Amino acid sequence: MTISVIGLGYIGLPTAAMFAACGVKVVGVDVSQHAVDTINQGKIHIVEPELDKLVDSVVANGYLEAFTKPKAADVFIIAVPTPFKDDHEPDLTYIESAAKSIAPVLKKGDLVILESTSPVGATEQMADWLSSKRLDLTFPQTHGEDSDIRIAHCPERVLPGRILKELEENDRIIGGMTPKCSNAAVRLYKTFVKGECIVTDDKTAEMCKLTENSFRDVNIAFANELSVICDKLGINVWELISLANRHPRVNILQPGCGVGGHCIAVDPWFIVSKSPKEAKLIRAAREVNGYKPQWVVDKINNAISRFLEENPQKDKNDIAIACFGLAFKPDIDDLRESPAVEIVYALLQNGLKVNVVEPNIKELPEKLKHKNCELIDLADFDNSACNFVLVGHNEFKSSEILHDTQVLDFCGALKGVQ
Ligand SMILES: NC(=O)c1ccc[n+]([C@@H]2O[C@H](COP(=O)([O-])OP(=O)(O)OC[C@H]3O[C@@H](n4cnc5c(N)ncnc54)[C@H](O)[C@@H]3O)[C@@H](O)[C@H]2O)c1
Repeated sequence: MTISVIGLGYIGLPTAAMFAACGVKVVGVDVSQHAVDTINQGKIHIVEPELDKLVDSVVANGYLEAFTKPKAADVFIIAVPTPFKDDHEPDLTYIESAAKSIAPVLKKGDLVILESTSPVGATEQMADWLSSKRLDLTFPQTHGEDSDIRIAHCPERVLPGRILKELEENDRIIGGMTPKCSNAAVRLYKTFVKGECIVTDDKTAEMCKLTENSFRDVNIAFANELSVICDKLGINVWELISLANRHPRVNILQPGCGVGGHCIAVDPWFIVSKSPKEAKLIRAAREVNGYKPQWVVDKINNAISRFLEENPQKDKNDIAIACFGLAFKPDIDDLRESPAVEIVYALLQNGLKVNVVEPNIKELPEKLKHKNCELIDLADFDNSACNFVLVGHNEFKSSEILHDTQVLDFCGALKGVQ
């Protein structure tokens, strides 16, 4: 059997390497020449613990090879990006071009699996794109169990930083377009998955992944809304949440500067786009979390105005402020869609000088490369005019310097100094 994985990023490359490590021949395909060249040298172009060693060994022993164009295989796993467009509508162009690129090499009996997080109906849409290019083959949407090609949606729910472990241990949702499609996909994943493979249909599998991330978004929005209400009422929201969580059936999450990353902040929109009238709570959660960074910027600007009123000898252009944390959540280096990056960017646009302390990165992201922005070490921090904690990294929680400094803490890192 040969498996082809289309899209060799955070999901596709570890998946390809896991199959290859089980002695299956894997053809990796990516449109990025850089990704293909790096992988063929036995190296990786993404950051994920232990993946470098695994890729090095499976490339060296010939089980994984990468190409920029698809080749014939028995199974195709599509793991390309699924972002949204400016109007929050899902952008399926990557799936469309991946499907159209494998269509010429498809043959009777092949299994095609969509792993990309997708709006409901995307798997069937992918099957239509394939079928439009291969009129000589039959597909499940028209020929059911008797079709030449089997198609399933098997979403991925791994956590970056633990991908190899979770790929093996997590339960998997297997959404075949027919029971035969599901059975083929279960047999495939059982190559390395030790978790349970639970069978459903393609639409339920699509909705399941979106539901998991919307559940997180709605619960974070509840905490974020509480933080805004408590600020208005003069209540310490972290104390409030810890008290409420003493109730045996209450478990409120922690508020922060918003929701970032490319999953939780994106996937709920896929539900809203399909059911705009019905998805009221899911949309409201997105709006609450989307508004939070602006609320933080307003609070910071107010704090600076107060500081300048209390220190009339100082001028806005002379003072520097410090922001602690840039990543989209604590203790990682991932800045994708990070609310903290948006907040620092807005402060720079406002003409402020910003010292950023982010222990997990060595260089500022492009967006923040500005003459007024400097990345400094926590150890070099020397009490700026105004200090703001944006991300609850462990380094900040245990920092004596921060505990001895007057700060506005937007994420509870210092437990309740608001
Ligand atoms: N990263 C995660 O933690 C995570 C978790 C669960 C689900 N997902 C979902 O998995 C999917 C992939 O995410 P990712 O993080 O791996 O993305 P990624 O950006 O890391 O990788 C995608 C890769 O696909 C390649 N690509 C784009 N179009 C292509 C095409 N037509 N043919 C071949 N290659 C193509 C890109 O060059 C890139 O290397 C997305 O739908 C995402 O929402 C991601």
